[in-house]
Amino acid sequence: MKNKKIIIAGGTGFIGEEMIRYFGKNNHLVILTRQMINALNNRNKYYSLSSTDLANVQYVKWDGINTGDWVALIEGADIVINLAGKSVNCRYTPKNKQEIFDSRTDSVNAIGNAIRLCKNPPELWVNASSATIYRNAVDRRQDEYTGEYHNDFSVQVCKKWEKALYEQETPYTRKVALRMAITLGPGGVLIPYFNLLKFGLGGRQGSGNQMYSWVHAEDTCRMIVWLYEHKHLSGTFNCCSPNPVSNAEFMRLLRKATGHAFGLPAYEWMLKLGAPLIGTETELVLKSRWVVPTKIIETGFQFKYPLLKDALADIIRKVPRRQYHLF
Ligand SMILES: NC(=O)c1ccc[n+]([C@@H]2O[C@H](COP(=O)([O-])OP(=O)(O)OC[C@H]3O[C@@H](n4cnc5c(N)ncnc54)[C@H](OP(=O)(O)O)[C@@H]3O)[C@@H](O)[C@H]2O)c1
Repeated sequence: MKNKKIIIAGGTGFIGEEMIRYFGKNNHLVILTRQMINALNNRNKYYSLSSTDLANVQYVKWDGINTGDWVALIEGADIVINLAGKSVNCRYTPKNKQEIFDSRTDSVNAIGNAIRLCKNPPELWVNASSATIYRNAVDRRQDEYTGEYHNDFSVQVCKKWEKALYEQETPYTRKVALRMAITLGPGGVLIPYFNLLKFGLGGRQGSGNQMYSWVHAEDTCRMIVWLYEHKHLSGTFNCCSPNPVSNAEFMRLLRKATGHAFGLPAYEWMLKLGAPLIGTETELVLKSRWVVPTKIIETGFQFKYPLLKDALADIIRKVPRRQYHLF
């Protein structure tokens, strides 16, 4: 994709940086951020964006709630991607839960309002959602047609997020809710796994039977290009590789890719004890996410990294060895 104007709200985080790497060289990117200083400094420390990646990238301040000067930049854009939202990697206290909800619905409303102010609205609006919208699935795969939804906290977050998106009236802008699985790249969720590997703890977590749906960040970007180019597509799409694995298999392939012969398992009681100490929730590793991308495959999309071993091989070669080995 070339010479497009792409707005990325919340584009300072892990997935945003991967999108800058993918789209930045050949397109004009506008990154909406609440914190200009952090946006410029807080980059992935061992795989930082190059000056070429950033050549056409403009960082612009917004508050994630209200329309403002930034609306002018949405005018005439080709794609708006909204990734903004408080990280779910925290303790689910009432305050954090509220912020997780509000940061998502507020940013959706702000973008919807901005699009309605445009004389020349963007063609496509891709809003982040999550594959964790489906229930804890140990019995069968979940897809856009037959997936089931329960009502635990993370499911409620996704439901409200998507509802906020679909409530926005943007008659000239196609909307897509991208239900992203755990997104893999040289950073993000792999960082805590690298730390476990370093200390010999790269075994399965819990029973290891819980399913692990994942996607290579490059395939996420490729899917957005596909959705843009196929003008009839809109609605909800799972963004995950067609080959999810169990947690035990994920850890095995990660150990193999990083050259670790063994890794001690983390039993459920250890995770329950440890999670409050490191300010997170066990759900993030113990929930069984068994999700497949039926709809996008039906449109003819092909994943570059359908298999985890290939995805990990590509990612690990970009990460210095000292990140996942003590010596
Ligand atoms: N990573 C995954 O595997 C994954 C999987 C499924 C879904 N998702 C969803 O995809 C989105 C992007 O993921 P990510 O891993 O790139 O997340 P991330 O690294 O946490 O980045 C999210 C960005 O959202 C902005 N943000 C944080 N708190 C906010 C708030 N209270 N109000 C408005 N903006 C706020 C921040 O930008 P500024 O501080 O610059 O404003 C931050 O850089 C998130 O919404 C996440 O829930 C991620």
